[in-house]
Amino acid sequence: MNFLHKSLITLALIGASSLMAKPTIAILATGGTIAGAGTSEIKSSYSAGAVTVDKLLAAVPAINELATIKGEQISSIGSQEMNNKVWLKLAKRVNELLAKPEIDGIVITHGTDTMEETAYFLDLTVKSKKPVVLVGAMRSGTSMSADGPMNLFNAVNVVINKDTTGKGVVVVMNDEIHSAREVTKVNTSSVNAFASPNAGKIGTVYYGNVQFLMQPTRKHTVATEFDISKLEDLPRVDVLFAHPEDTDALVKAAVANGAKGIIHAGMGNGNPFPLTQDALAEAVKKGVIVARSSRVPTGSTTLEGEVDDKKFGFIAVDSLNAQKARVLLMLGLTKTHDKAALQKMFLEY
Ligand code: SIN
Repeated sequence: MNFLHKSLITLALIGASSLMAKPTIAILATGGTIAGAGTSEIKSSYSAGAVTVDKLLAAVPAINELATIKGEQISSIGSQEMNNKVWLKLAKRVNELLAKPEIDGIVITHGTDTMEETAYFLDLTVKSKKPVVLVGAMRSGTSMSADGPMNLFNAVNVVINKDTTGKGVVVVMNDEIHSAREVTKVNTSSVNAFASPNAGKIGTVYYGNVQFLMQPTRKHTVATEFDISKLEDLPRVDVLFAHPEDTDALVKAAVANGAKGIIHAGMGNGNPFPLTQDALAEAVKKGVIVARSSRVPTGSTTLEGEVDDKKFGFIAVDSLNAQKARVLLMLGLTKTHDKAALQKMFLEY
């Protein structure tokens, strides 16, 4: 065999082995019911985040055949305890890991209560096209018919699927794939707890078989202007929920407590009660950004409907729900306090 033949065979072997090489995936655990444990398989009570990442991964050995898995514990909290510190720690770690050539994607295990907000926060702050998947469970690991193991198996299949690249951060729950911007928790207890009410799911994953149906259209990840790499905290933004006979007291309290922004989840197309509207207008005069959102689960909150936004200095959140509008306004306020620039962000992201 001459030198040329030997070199060609060597190159072919290197090529074949790299084709067969398993992807390397980091699984970052934050807590939640997926890491929860109770004392009875037929009772709903449990402690969220009680199970470590190693135990969580050991419960789904099939994922080791799909990828080389590197587990890491970011936090051990129920996601109702989620806060700016953990969000920033998580986003910085995701960016650090995805910058490494040997990491192909990230799965984040998370409680379901605020999974939509964490997913959207990462969608706006991750600076990589590599896939990032959030996954949780509605039943703890000790429950009868726990949904966590299948959800995690499906999440790993989604993260290693080549079609997931470029779709921004996604959420995998109950055999469905949702885009971070659109997904929301719609049921307090069912395993079918997530939906994207304005846009629909973007794909399905059934026993690991991934099928995408749609492409998210809003700017995300590498296309956003947000940079959290040097941030230690985020501006305070509060959400206020409107109702008949509403008050001005909560707006005043939010401002006194240092809110830099208020998301007002108004009635219908984001309409405040008159007394509350006056207090919101006063807050704007004090430099607080007031963004009108809606307590209605679908549709957009639009400018210049029944409310004179120009007169009061309000902006409108378009089709984001109030909790996600809060995430975008917090990040927006790290860049600017200009109302026109912030309004543009709500139409772009
Ligand atoms: C949580 O969000 O941590 C508790 C609920 C859940 O994970 O389903």
